[in-house]
Amino acid sequence: MKIGLSTGGGDAPGLNAVIRAAVVSAVRRGWECIGIRNGYDGILFPERFEEGGLLPLPRSRVRGITHLGGTILGTTNRGNPLRYPTPQPDGSVKEVDHTVELADKIRAAGMDALVAIGGDGSLEIACALVRQGIRVVGVPKTIDNDLDKTVITFGFDTAVSFATECIDRLHTTAESHRRVMVVEVMGRYAGWIALNAGLSGSVDAILIPEIPYDLEKVADKVRRRDKTGANFSIVVVAEGAAPREGGVSVVSHEAGRLERLGGAGERVAQGLQELTGKETRTVVLGHLLRGGTPTSFDRLIALRFGAAAIRALEEGKDGVMVALDPPTVRYVPLEDATRRMKKVPLDCDSILTCRDLGICLGD
Ligand code: F6P
Repeated sequence: MKIGLSTGGGDAPGLNAVIRAAVVSAVRRGWECIGIRNGYDGILFPERFEEGGLLPLPRSRVRGITHLGGTILGTTNRGNPLRYPTPQPDGSVKEVDHTVELADKIRAAGMDALVAIGGDGSLEIACALVRQGIRVVGVPKTIDNDLDKTVITFGFDTAVSFATECIDRLHTTAESHRRVMVVEVMGRYAGWIALNAGLSGSVDAILIPEIPYDLEKVADKVRRRDKTGANFSIVVVAEGAAPREGGVSVVSHEAGRLERLGGAGERVAQGLQELTGKETRTVVLGHLLRGGTPTSFDRLIALRFGAAAIRALEEGKDGVMVALDPPTVRYVPLEDATRRMKKVPLDCDSILTCRDLGICLGD
């Protein structure tokens, strides 16, 4: 068997651990592995790569990478092959579907199966490849934890741990200056990072995409804290959080990729300063949440996912995604996993805990 490996979308701590586990497990079965650089660009546009778009992955190439952030294959979240932005003779840009070409090139490269490691966008591409007759096993990745049908994705725990540490550090400076500190974290469609880091960092307000916020409610929380002598407040805002009347904060939009979000934290900070008269500062954690060494939890699930993907291929499975369903890793149809985003349920225990602890959720 010759197995292709691809990492797509935003990087997440644990990608290299998945690659290592998949390669070692495959090599132990006498199979060969080959990496595709930068999502699928390496196979669609090999001429763009000086050393070739494909990276042979012998056992020696994955030695000592479990703990490394990023991905040795490179990744991309632009140029989705399902909607590739293609300049037209009239100067306009049209989104063109390259799935058939991609599937043909995967076959021509001699790959018998593909391990596609990615988030919702990458797994949507994986589904399209399955429909073109390519054998694919998906591995769920995203720091946002918004993929359905798996209890958790790798990368999420590292992001939450780092965000919590940052919030811990902000407590003392916020208290010393009697300020409102607004911390913006990633979380495009789902507020899992904001919720978990905000709760474990014992903040005063958490704003997530699932609950459109009323800033007056947050300002009220800040004022009530002031009255009790706690003269500072910490507010965590997911980048995809939006006010009741208004949309998400968008920085830019480019053909073939998702809107770039940004500014949600600053918008909240400015509003709170106006409403409370308190000095306010914003910290955007952004891509810091995607970098660094994966936590042991993320390494473990990444290694388990990588090994499980190869077991799936050995067992003849196709069109499935490996999924954490404690205490085990099971396989779910790729189509089911990509049907909808996993948002924070408003009746979940963490939301109830916030309410019990008096953490304002902006509603
Ligand atoms: O999908 C993961 C994610 O971290 C989102 O939370 C965020 O909106 C996006 O990636 C940012 O991507 P980029 O690397 O293009 O800024």
